[in-house]
Amino acid sequence: MPAYPDSPRHIAVIMDGNGRWARERGLPRREGHRAGAESVREVADACIECGVDYLTLFAFSSENWNRPAAEVTALMGLLDRFLVEKSKDLDQQNIRLLAIGQLDRLPAKTRGLLDKIMTRTAHHSALTLVLALSYGGREEIVSAARSLAADAAAGTLAPAAIDATLFASRLQTAAIPDPDLLIRTSGEMRVSNFLLWQISYAEIVIVRKYWPDFRRNDLIEAVREYQRRHRRFGTL
Ligand code: FPP
Repeated sequence: MPAYPDSPRHIAVIMDGNGRWARERGLPRREGHRAGAESVREVADACIECGVDYLTLFAFSSENWNRPAAEVTALMGLLDRFLVEKSKDLDQQNIRLLAIGQLDRLPAKTRGLLDKIMTRTAHHSALTLVLALSYGGREEIVSAARSLAADAAAGTLAPAAIDATLFASRLQTAAIPDPDLLIRTSGEMRVSNFLLWQISYAEIVIVRKYWPDFRRNDLIEAVREYQRRHRRFGTL
């Protein structure tokens, strides 16, 4: 029996506050991201402990490309290091890795690492860890609309046949259930272009802590908060 019955099946996280965490300690921003990568490891473990099937992390947004080049480079370096170091754990912990976003914008090295690890872990089943990289919800929706429009223009799809199910099948998350729980750290109350379509009915938990301070017990507390909610999906 799972330790936490009625856990959310899919948790999505906006990992916010790395920069402020670093600034309050007089450290460079990259140190905040480095500490944030430790939280990623701990939270993935806690999700397995709670019986969560999918964990989607907003690791790099389409807008993050506009940050100073040094910070972008530091984030990509951290991601590469995470992928190399976490690679063995993914096997041991039976974690499948997926990535969503405009992956062709990532450096070739990062893409190569992602491809290799996604292929190698494709059969793992304890947890699916989805990294949203160079990801934007609006961009994803526009791309789905473009693909449907192309089919309609080619005469292979009748516009009247387009419904929510068909639309969702053209998103990058087509094979993934919608998030049940959306967590955002650092107290900000925004969705910031993250999984705009998919979070329609997600329960939202805002945590005041900065992401580098968000660890195992905080994840478990957010799951408990979710379990106290009464999900209505628009009904009474
Ligand atoms: C938001 O903090 C966080 C990010 C832009 C990146 C998240 C990246 C990591 C946690 C590390 C690497 C990821 C993985 C998967 C290993 P912010 O910089 O916007 O913080 P601020 O709002 O306080 O400035």
